[in-house]
Amino acid sequence: MEYVTLSNGVKMPILGYGVYQVTKDECERCVADALKAGYRSIDTAQSYFNEEEVGNAIVRSGIPREDLFITSKVWVEHYGYDACRASVLESLRKLQIEYIDLMLLHQPFSDYYGAWRALEDLYEEGKLRAIGISNFYPDRMVDIASFARIRPMVNQVETHPLNQQIEAKKWMDKYGVRIEAWAPFGEGRGGLFENEVLKAIGAKYSKTTAQVMLRWHIQRGVVVIPKSTHYERMAENLNVFDFALTDEDMTAITALDQKQSSFFSHYDPNMVEWFVNMVEERKKQHDSSKEKKNW
Ligand SMILES: NC(=O)c1ccc[n+]([C@@H]2O[C@H](COP(=O)([O-])OP(=O)(O)OC[C@H]3O[C@@H](n4cnc5c(N)ncnc54)[C@H](OP(=O)(O)O)[C@@H]3O)[C@@H](O)[C@H]2O)c1
Repeated sequence: MEYVTLSNGVKMPILGYGVYQVTKDECERCVADALKAGYRSIDTAQSYFNEEEVGNAIVRSGIPREDLFITSKVWVEHYGYDACRASVLESLRKLQIEYIDLMLLHQPFSDYYGAWRALEDLYEEGKLRAIGISNFYPDRMVDIASFARIRPMVNQVETHPLNQQIEAKKWMDKYGVRIEAWAPFGEGRGGLFENEVLKAIGAKYSKTTAQVMLRWHIQRGVVVIPKSTHYERMAENLNVFDFALTDEDMTAITALDQKQSSFFSHYDPNMVEWFVNMVEERKKQHDSSKEKKNW
């Protein structure tokens, strides 16, 4: 495994395993498989509703805590100082660990400054080894990196060959914020697994398009957290440290950049409204389940 060193000196595996869209039913088995395959970094989030299953797999693995790197993310309805603090303590309880290696603010909406101040305090108390942000486009990233007391160490953003974040990465580099790719394969959108350029490069090294994509990220210094529910693919995605892409290969992949999201843009007010509705719906569900418990 290769590591990157975050701005506070913490070492983070450059390749980890993500559990977005891994169901509660499957998650414990998937994380156990990932740990068996050799992953030591796991990326979850409050909004994935599987922190508890990640925790179960960690406990059952018997792997020493210091060998693991666990990331989670605070969801928007837990923003503001008090709610964020309480939610991180709840994440710790669900994950069944004493500290989280990296805690991110999941989205740049609502009272993220209040939430950030809670993360700063929890970081200083030793409950979080590193803190960061996610989906902060360059304008929001420069804002928080400039005005916060403690600068984010990581920014996790959509990054793959069709949306390479070349400009955004320059801004992150300038502020010493490590870029981490979510959807390192773009979830296969735009035919990425069947892309001819990636296939031709892979053929030279007897590697798959997935392995070529991960190798490309790693050679750019981008942290990756591919997701798969299949053991063979987990192993395949980890097997990327025995070859290197040439400058020519890297340039050929750079040419695939479409410089736009394959999912959605956080600059789009319709998208922001979609998030707002989601947060309100979840609050309603939460309130009604609390009422039921009171009956
Ligand atoms: N911060 C955020 O807002 C945010 C947003 C999205 C994701 N994330 C994080 O980033 C992680 C990765 O992103 P993602 O899960 O959205 O997408 P991804 O890793 O780009 O792609 C996952 C998809 O690729 C397939 N796949 C995986 N390995 C493969 C291989 N070797 N060959 C062929 N297909 C393969 C998986 O299928 P199978 O599972 O069927 O194998 C799944 O459909 C997430 O799990 C999550 O931890 C964060």
